[in-house]
Amino acid sequence: MKNIILLAPPAAGKGTQSKLICDTYKFIHISTGDLLREEVKKETTLGIDLKDKMETGKLIEDSIVIELLKNKLDACKNAEGFIYDGFPRNIKQAELLDEMLKESDYKIDEVIYLNLDYETAKNRIVGRCSCTNCGEVYNTLIEAQKPKKEGICDKCNSNLYKRNDDNEETFKTRFEVYEKETKPLIKYYENIVKEVDSTKDTNEVFEEIKSILGEPK
Ligand code: AP5
Ligand code: MG
Repeated sequence: MKNIILLAPPAAGKGTQSKLICDTYKFIHISTGDLLREEVKKETTLGIDLKDKMETGKLIEDSIVIELLKNKLDACKNAEGFIYDGFPRNIKQAELLDEMLKESDYKIDEVIYLNLDYETAKNRIVGRCSCTNCGEVYNTLIEAQKPKKEGICDKCNSNLYKRNDDNEETFKTRFEVYEKETKPLIKYYENIVKEVDSTKDTNEVFEEIKSILGEPK
């Protein structure tokens, strides 16, 4: 079972590339951001707290994230592999992941760093919208990524929505948190990390990722 980490600033294309990787390699996509947003949707006491905190752009407590992650991993025991999108987010989470994998005799196989500058990332955030039903991601400011019909998903015809944390102010905090808490993981994984220039278009980025991951089985 392969374990692949996508390490990147907000809007660098973690979700977009995870989907392409999972379609090609039949891996399971683990996005801690998505797991947290599912909790928010349930409107539990925890979900309400998470909503407020995520809207500020700050990180959620490690213990909450780890519990959601463990539940997801337990539910996907026979997977060919996992793509970790947005996890780990700090050194503590990286150490906890190492421990969890060691317990089951697994290791991290690849760490792919999608590098993107602040301005390009901010512009991608402003136009992003996602499907309320299937999660497909679009961008109204990028011609190739616009939905065919405004506000409607091409794939399943459901409505599109904008994330609550996709505004310039929260984005600034998200990027600062990334620089302070997550970027040091490049050093943590220095022996295996591979950098991909995420300013390139989606297909070019995916080609580079495929050259790192090799032929699918
Ligand atoms: P999370 O959901 O992980 O958000 P993020 O890291 O800010 O990243 P995004 O989802 O915004 O961007 P992405 O890299 O997936 O880009 P996408 O493919 O959508 O986390 C949200 C919050 O949850 C955090 O702030 C924190 O509060 C909490 N959280 C999550 N994980 C946590 C953890 N482990 N610990 C603690 N807290 C945690 O692409 C963006 C846009 O660009 C799209 O419109 C897309 O169409 C477009 N695009 C993508 N690639 C390209 C390309 N190559 N060229 C042109 N456009 C492109
Ligand atoms: Mg994402």
